[in-house]
Formats: sequence, structure tokens, C-alpha cells
Amino acid sequence: VNTRDQSLLDRAFHEAERASWLWTAPNPRVGALALSQGHVIGHGHHAYLGGPHAEEAALRDAGAWQEDSNGPLPGVVDEMVITLEPCSATGGKKRRLHSCLELLQSAGVQRVVLGATDPDPRHQGAAIAAMREQGIEVIHAGQEERFSAQNPAFLKAQEHPQRPFVLCKWAASVDGRTATHDGVSQWITGEEARAEGHQLRAVSDAILVGARTLELDQPRLNARVSPEEPWQGQPLRVFLSASHLALADQGPLSIAGPRLWVECNPQATLPAGANEDDQLIQVSPDDSGRPSLSEVLSVLKEQGVGRLLIEGGSHVQAAFLRTGLLDAVVRYEAPSLFGGGLGSLQGEGPDHPQHAWQLFAEDRRDCGKDLRRAFLLRAADSPVVQE
Ligand SMILES: NC(=O)c1ccc[n+]([C@@H]2O[C@H](COP(=O)([O-])OP(=O)(O)OC[C@H]3O[C@@H](n4cnc5c(N)ncnc54)[C@H](OP(=O)(O)O)[C@@H]3O)[C@@H](O)[C@H]2O)c1
Repeated sequence: VNTRDQSLLDRAFHEAERASWLWTAPNPRVGALALSQGHVIGHGHHAYLGGPHAEEAALRDAGAWQEDSNGPLPGVVDEMVITLEPCSATGGKKRRLHSCLELLQSAGVQRVVLGATDPDPRHQGAAIAAMREQGIEVIHAGQEERFSAQNPAFLKAQEHPQRPFVLCKWAASVDGRTATHDGVSQWITGEEARAEGHQLRAVSDAILVGARTLELDQPRLNARVSPEEPWQGQPLRVFLSASHLALADQGPLSIAGPRLWVECNPQATLPAGANEDDQLIQVSPDDSGRPSLSEVLSVLKEQGVGRLLIEGGSHVQAAFLRTGLLDAVVRYEAPSLFGGGLGSLQGEGPDHPQHAWQLFAEDRRDCGKDLRRAFLLRAADSPVVQE
């Protein structure tokens, strides 16, 4: 790679840093530049799951996009610099019918500088081969290590393609309490933190809660975001236990939208009150006679869930942690002290602090008076992943 291409790639990698894994996972952080006759005229990054990929964002920024056909305007951009090989398949893309490969082709791009190939063996090198076949000059800089260092969440997701990327989110006091001793949790944090919680729902394919949270909180579990916000998805609502379906008919949970009830009791059926939005799935019991969480995740993945948000309660969260099925935690901390009440994860815990799960890749933000901290997880004995 010559100095000119390398310095453009550096800019693209910086552009990718404007994104956070918290919003893109399981997708990677990717940055792109759009050029015309050697001059950068646009830049963009993939900002959130379901949002425009970096290539589209850069083409839009360059003015190389036609809103009426919702596709590239040919002849404006002739070169692109991208940190990752463009996607060559539309599979899994939520908002567009076209792959980024097709976008570059229809924009009339003639030269592409790439940081890294797609690590997914099903796509690795496919777009590079396709572009070269069409006479597009492709410079592959071989900067896979740099791309990986920028994308620990994406790499984590690649390790388990058979299940969704799983985040667990809760609100707690400074002493880590998520509810009072008799189960009241609404509300611990302020409006800003709760508004961000809705955005997290909107970028998730599904939300899961435990039976007791359903019973005590009767949450609506929909994403309530303002119409100006880019993320407008509504997640599938998943409940660990169908015995509480009776609740679904009343109150907040009765709002329309698909709901999935998980059971490990083969006799369980959908009781009266269920409608066409309700689906019951049977999974095997685990050692404690409760639904096998890994099976639940496999079923969700089969149903197209790539990102799952767990919103309580503390026993269900601890069960996911114990079985090693959590990828990330998002904690909203309110400046309050309970001095008692329910903890965020009610499990047995490790027998030594050395065996505690390690948190890394922190994304931290002030949400009004509250503090949001998001982390990726790794087991105490797993190799350190570079941030
Ligand atoms: N601050 C926050 O962000 C927040 C968020 C959500 C909830 N909360 C609070 O958390 C409290 C509820 O939490 P919780 O811990 O009592 O209950 P929970 O985790 O919501 O539900 C526990 C129940 O889920 C069922 N379950 C199914 N599979 C399970 C598994 N693999 N492991 C464990 N449980 C499984 C069990 O029902 P069976 O016993 O019938 O099998 C179990 O009793 C409420 O007070 C709520 O307000 C706080």
C-alpha cells in the first residue's frame, strides 16, 4: 500500500471509531471514504445495527445518493476507501435489498482500497473477487489485525454464529440494587437513561424477560422512540414461561406485536387469551428443570434474531451469565443508595474473585444524572482480547 492509500485508510479507520460496538453489534464498526478524482468528498460509518452500512453512509455524504430510487447516483464517486471488504450478500441486511458490492457497482466506483477481508469464511474474499472480475481495481491492504483490534464485539459474535449476540441491561443504585426488597423497580433511573433504553430496544431484534419481571413489572417491552430517531424497529418479545400468559391479556403487555412464550413442559399449551401474535416454543429442560437457555437462543437465531436484549430479572440474568451465554452488559447507575433489596444478578457467584468474569471495551456515557456503562465480557481464564 502506498503512502497516499495508507493515509486514506487511516482516515477511514478513524471514521469507524465514531461508531460504538454497543450500537453496531453483532455487526462490526466500519468506516468509509468516498472520493472523486482523488479528493475526499464524503465519509461515513456504520452507526447502528439495521442502519446504513459505511459505504452507503459515505455515498450519501458525498451527495451520490438519489432519494427517489433510494440508490446510488452514478458518476459522482469514482474511488472508495473502506476498512472492511464490502458485504457481497444481502442476507441479514435489515433495511436494504442491495449488498454494498452492488452499491459500489451502481455508483460507478472504479478503484477500491480495503483495510481487511471479511473474517466470515462464507464471505471472505467474495466481494474482492467479484469487483476484480468486473474490472474494478482493488487494493487490499491486509490490515486484518487493525480491523480486529477495533472490533472485539464483532469477533465475539463470530465465535458463536449459532446464537444471537446477547446483551443484558439493567438499572441499579450505586450499591447495585435493581429493585426494593418487595420487587419495586420503577423507576430507579431518570428520563434520559430510560430514553436510551428504548433506543437499545429499537436496535435489538428481540427482548427477553423472566417470569417474575413479567408478573411484577408488567412491562410493555416495546421501543418507544421519537419519530425523528433513525431506529424505528419493534423487537420480538420473549418470555421464559408460558404460565404467565394470562397476564398478557391485560394491561401494558396486551399491546399488539409478536410474542414468544418459552416452555420446557411438554404439556404446556397456549391458554385462552393468546392470539395470532403469540407463539409457544418447547425446549428441553436444563438441570434445574427450567428451559435450556442455549436451546432458547438457537431457536431465536433460527427465527432471525441476531441481537437479543435481556431486561431482567436478576435470576434470569444470573442464569445467562452462569451458562456463559452473555456477550455484553449495559448498566445504568443512578446516584442513589438502597441499603438493601434485590441485586442485579442473583446467582451463586465465583468461589474466588480471580474467577470473576472480566469486563472490557467499556462504552460510558452520562445520561442526565445517571451513568451508563456498557462492557463486553470474557471468562477469567480466556485470553485477553485487545481493545
Ligand atoms: N432495575 C432493573 O433494571 C430491573 C429490570 C427488570 C426487572 N427488575 C426487577 O427484578 C425483579 C424480578 O427479578 P427476579 O430475579 O425476582 O425474577 P426473574 O429473573 O424476572 O424471573 C425469575 C423466574 O423466571 C423463571 N425462569 C425461567 N427460566 C429460568 C432460568 N433459566 N433461570 C432462572 N429463572 C428462570 C423462573 O420461574 P419459575 O420459578 O416459575 O420456573 C424464575 O422464578 C422485579 O422486582 C423487577 O422489578 C429490575
